[in-house]
Amino acid sequence: DEAASLSSAARPFIDLIDTLRAHGVHQDLPLPQIAVMGDQSSGKSSVLEMISGVPFPRGSGLVTRCATQLIMKRTPPGSEWTARASVSWQGPQPKAAGNVKDQASLCAAIEQLTQVLCSSTMNGFSRDSIVIQLSSPDVPDLTLLDLPGIVRTAVSGQSASVVEDVNGLIEAYLSQERTIVLAVMPANQDIATIDILERAARADPAGERTLAVLTKPDLVDAGAEEEVKAVLANKRKPLRLGFAMVKCRSQRELDAKSTLADALRSEADFFRRHPHWSNEDPKKLGVRALTMRLSTLLVDRIKVALPSIKYELQLQREAAARDFERLGGHTAAVDANAMRAEIVRVVAEYTTLLRQSARGNYGNAM
Ligand code: GDP
Ligand code: NA
Ligand code: MG
Repeated sequence: DEAASLSSAARPFIDLIDTLRAHGVHQDLPLPQIAVMGDQSSGKSSVLEMISGVPFPRGSGLVTRCATQLIMKRTPPGSEWTARASVSWQGPQPKAAGNVKDQASLCAAIEQLTQVLCSSTMNGFSRDSIVIQLSSPDVPDLTLLDLPGIVRTAVSGQSASVVEDVNGLIEAYLSQERTIVLAVMPANQDIATIDILERAARADPAGERTLAVLTKPDLVDAGAEEEVKAVLANKRKPLRLGFAMVKCRSQRELDAKSTLADALRSEADFFRRHPHWSNEDPKKLGVRALTMRLSTLLVDRIKVALPSIKYELQLQREAAARDFERLGGHTAAVDANAMRAEIVRVVAEYTTLLRQSARGNYGNAM
């Protein structure tokens, strides 16, 4: 099928970027990625869940308190579902890694890792991220980054800095040229009031890397459909990548424990039967169409970025080689005395810098 053939073409590119990320390269140079952004309760977790099958923790308030990298690999039909949850901080090697046996445990694992990352921080919010690696015949070849929702005011029990910190994190991703922004917003909300579109427009004025997704089409008021159609037709807030629309599970459907397969079927029925949406371009409707679109976008973005990524890596490699040589790495038989002298020199330089910075004087001692 279409998804499978797309998969075999996409896999090598996505693998390459995931490998670079696993080596910590993203800490030095930005890698192409898709980041999910939007207001709290706009439907971010619901969309991610429909794409991946991962039951993301849900609730009111700031449930997502750190970024979550969701790395999905599509495997041949009949192969097993496997998942690994870990935490990536500073160093290249993910820590606290563990295999997860089923989808329900994955939700618990995300909650537990959120706790690990965020409980020791001042405001219960962390810049480090959770990494979920998922392999299954039922997932797309796609890597997505889930971010905390935009926060406007701190609620009781949160320090005021949480607003600044969450928004700073979102801005950091927004401003990265290689990040595709998947901007999630409810279809029943006035497009002029959507915060993430304002921010994306500032970070990406040409709208080249922003794809908007309208959620909750079932909650659009009777009579308001024409306006939503105009938004979907890219006539209100034009974006180069345009708009898509999905229907996820309502709170009632969630409470009734409808399965993901039910949800996908219900979504397809909803769009097929709807007096207004059924006439829309099917490429813009539904989670499956969105998923294909995202895989294609990501791969295109990677292909465009690869030459400059290669160049930047070469520069970094050369710089690292020079440092290595400066530390005596060029001699086959290392002279222990010269090495010790060099290390003593570096440590002395370092402690001088530390003392200066402790006095608030960063100067230009290097
Ligand atoms: P997040 O805070 O952006 O991650 O939003 P959630 O995914 O947690 O969704 C917030 C609420 O909106 C939940 O109660 C969802 O069940 C509900 N919701 C999400 N998508 C839809 C949809 O398409 N239709 C309806 N009726 N409810 C939805
Ligand atoms: Na939420
Ligand atoms: Mg959420």
